[in-house]
Amino acid sequence: MTQMKTVLSGIRATGTSHLGNYIGAIARFARMSQDPRYRCLFFVADFHTLTTLKEAEQIKKHLPNMVLDYLAAGVDLSHSAIYVQSDVPQVTELAWLLSCLTPVTHLEGLPTYKDKREKHPEDINAGLFNYPVLMAADILGPRADLVPVGSDQKPHIELTQSLARRFNNLYGHYFPVPGVLPDMVLVPGLSPMDERGGFAKMGKSDGNTINLGDTPEQTWDKIRVAPTDPQRVHRTDPGNPDHCCIFALHQYVSTPEQLAWSREGCMSAGIGCMDCKRVLADNINHMLAEFRERRMQLAQKPDVIRDVLVEGKRQAEVLFNETIEHVRERMGIRRWGS
Ligand code: TRP
Repeated sequence: MTQMKTVLSGIRATGTSHLGNYIGAIARFARMSQDPRYRCLFFVADFHTLTTLKEAEQIKKHLPNMVLDYLAAGVDLSHSAIYVQSDVPQVTELAWLLSCLTPVTHLEGLPTYKDKREKHPEDINAGLFNYPVLMAADILGPRADLVPVGSDQKPHIELTQSLARRFNNLYGHYFPVPGVLPDMVLVPGLSPMDERGGFAKMGKSDGNTINLGDTPEQTWDKIRVAPTDPQRVHRTDPGNPDHCCIFALHQYVSTPEQLAWSREGCMSAGIGCMDCKRVLADNINHMLAEFRERRMQLAQKPDVIRDVLVEGKRQAEVLFNETIEHVRERMGIRRWGS
């Protein structure tokens, strides 16, 4: 029998999950957890959340919601686990050990760090700088083989890979060098086309989201007022579907026939934007119906979240402890008093 691969990914508890998170990450994680080739470890990266979010109540509120999202999406726990990063504080011990192998210049050069520095000059904390080292500890602690992430996170995985190699070279082979799984899709948000002819991704901070917790009516209300091709002023004007976020979103939820209907109808002014939006809203609501139903039921059973996280912590701890014992011993950090 070939060995199961360990797949690992984390999501920060920064806000309410939306359709982009669902298609790009959560639903994909659920599918992978149902694949017998993989043992999946999914966690809420609450320590990472602290680098940008200072409102304690927000973190406490978002965290259980993220766990519900994983569960409602159908993450199969028969050979996978969900845990909270801070429930396994060994990760910070490993992060320290790894930080001593990390060149400062590598961290300084990371685009995510440079980006945050520019966008939030008022809060350039050391956590932000060390963020990728903690992420490497998240990944190397359970000796993950595969990490599904978006393209923005690739430089972090590259740092993880180089730390795994450096450790293996200096102290003898121990860590598998983790691979990145093909990009997570970045779903466009309900926004006008930008200067570069693209669409901003659906993002928590951009006010362009369809939230997983929205009702079908709220979903329709957001889509109803969303911008379309600005050239299509009147119902009788032909439009360009490639300039419209509604058409862009259709690609993720609609059939090839509906896509052709939308494209042709828009270009010939055979259909109105409202017709096109109605089909989009119906398809999104249809796709999320089961998820929303399950999420509502789970939300009434807080014990479920606790039980899942207790078991997740237990499993993650076994993996982390084994790694830490090895790494400490090889680096010369023995346990002296115990
Ligand atoms: N940095 C990731 C993000 O913002 C979240 C994350 C933290 C993560 N630790 C991880 C993802 C380990 C994959 C593996 O999306």
